[in-house]
Amino acid sequence: MNAYSSHKQFSRLLYISSLDVENSGERPEQTAREIAEASAAHNRLADLTGSLLFIDGCFIQILEGPPEEVEKTFERICCDFRHIDLRLIDLISVSERLFEHWDMACLCEDEETSLALRDGLQEVRFLVGINASQATLQMRSLLDSQSAGSKD
Ligand SMILES: Cc1cc2nc3c(=O)[nH]c(=O)nc-3n(C[C@H](O)[C@H](O)[C@H](O)COP(=O)(O)O)c2cc1C
Repeated sequence: MNAYSSHKQFSRLLYISSLDVENSGERPEQTAREIAEASAAHNRLADLTGSLLFIDGCFIQILEGPPEEVEKTFERICCDFRHIDLRLIDLISVSERLFEHWDMACLCEDEETSLALRDGLQEVRFLVGINASQATLQMRSLLDSQSAGSKD
């Protein structure tokens, strides 16, 4: 035991997957929102936070919290038939959360999504393949802009 071992460590996980159109109803954006809402309710109980992005049939999700809860929930997510081609991009240990205000934020494209937000979502999708930490920061920054916009 040393001075640092009492500090709490969290896991932060990032993955991408594709909506399985055959198992997800006729309105993909609505399905994505419903997934984010149901996830937020579960995550609150499990002390998990994060963000779910959905664009052009592609999910990008960040899940963070106590390592054992992240692991358990990710195992369930992997078995979910509503998405396919799941690919784990990053799993790191961190001392602070980045999404502490969101049980599961939804960055989901729909008919009302502004061009600026759509560009932002596409940028995350582009970044996720080349720089996981930049993609993560970009997701956080999109949420900050959304919160700032909703206060106007
Ligand atoms: C893209 C996607 C993201 C999900 N994210 C979460 C999540 O953050 N937390 C969660 O509890 N379930 C999440 N789920 C749902 C789980 O896969 C699962 O359906 C849910 O936790 C209920 O599990 P149970 O039926 O075994 O209780 C997600 C599902 C999908 C398709």
